[in-house]
Amino acid sequence: MPAIILLIVSAAFFSLDNHTIAPENHTVQEDTLAASNKKYVDQIMRWLGDRADKPAEEVFKDIQMFKGRTAGDMIRIMDGAYRRSLGVGCAYCHDTQDWASNDKTEKQATRAMAEFTGAINNDLLPKVEGIKSEKPRVRCGTCHQGKPRPGADL
Ligand code: HEC
Ligand code: HEC
Repeated sequence: MPAIILLIVSAAFFSLDNHTIAPENHTVQEDTLAASNKKYVDQIMRWLGDRADKPAEEVFKDIQMFKGRTAGDMIRIMDGAYRRSLGVGCAYCHDTQDWASNDKTEKQATRAMAEFTGAINNDLLPKVEGIKSEKPRVRCGTCHQGKPRPGADL
C-alpha cells in the first residue's frame, strides 16, 4: 500500500515537473504577459456579452479562419494557442486600437501558419507509418514553445 501511494505521489510530482521545466524566468515572463493582456481579453469579452456564443464572423469584422467558431472560443484561442504558445502579447499581431486591421505582417503570417499547420495535420502526418498516437497532431506550441520565432538564430 505505501508503495502505491509513493508511486502516485511521485507520478504527480513528475507530471507537475514536466510542466515547469521551462526556465524560471520564462514562467515569470509568461505570467507578466498573461496579466498585462488579460485586460484586452476582459474588455472584449465584456463588449461581446451574450454574443460570445454567436459565430465569430457575425460579431467581428474580418474573420477568414474562424468562420463557424463562436466569438468567445475564438478569443480563448487568441489568448491560448496564439498568444501564449508564441510567448507574445496580443500587440505582437494586432494594432490593439483596431483589432481587425491586417497591417501587421505577424497577423498575416499567422493565417498562413494555420494553413501550414493544417496541411501537416491533415495531409502529411497521416502518411507517416509507425506513429504510436491514433491521431497525431502538431499545434502552434509544438514548434513555438513560447518563442515567436522557433529555430531562428536570434
Ligand atoms: C500570433 C498572432 C495573434 C495573436 C498573438 C493574437 N491574435 Fe487576434 N487575430 C489574429 C488573426 C490571424 C486574426 C484573424 C482571424 C481570422 O481571419 O479568422 C485575429 C483576429 C482577432 C480579432 C477579430 C478582429 C476583427 O474584428 O476582425 C480580435 C478581437 C482579436 N484577434 C483579439 C486578440 C486578443 C485579445 C489577443 C490577445 C489575447 C490576440 N488577438 C492575439 C492573430 C493573433
Ligand atoms: C511545424 C512547426 C511550426 C508550427 C506547427 C507552427 N509554426 Fe509558426 N513558425 C515556425 C517557423 C520555423 C517559423 C519561422 C521563424 C523565423 O525564422 O522567423 C514560424 C514563424 C511564425 C510566425 C512569423 C514570425 C516572424 O518571423 O515574424 C508567426 C506569427 C507564427 N509562426 C505563428 C504560428 C501560429 C499561430 C501557429 C499555429 C497556428 C504556428 N505558427 C505553427 C514553425 C511552426
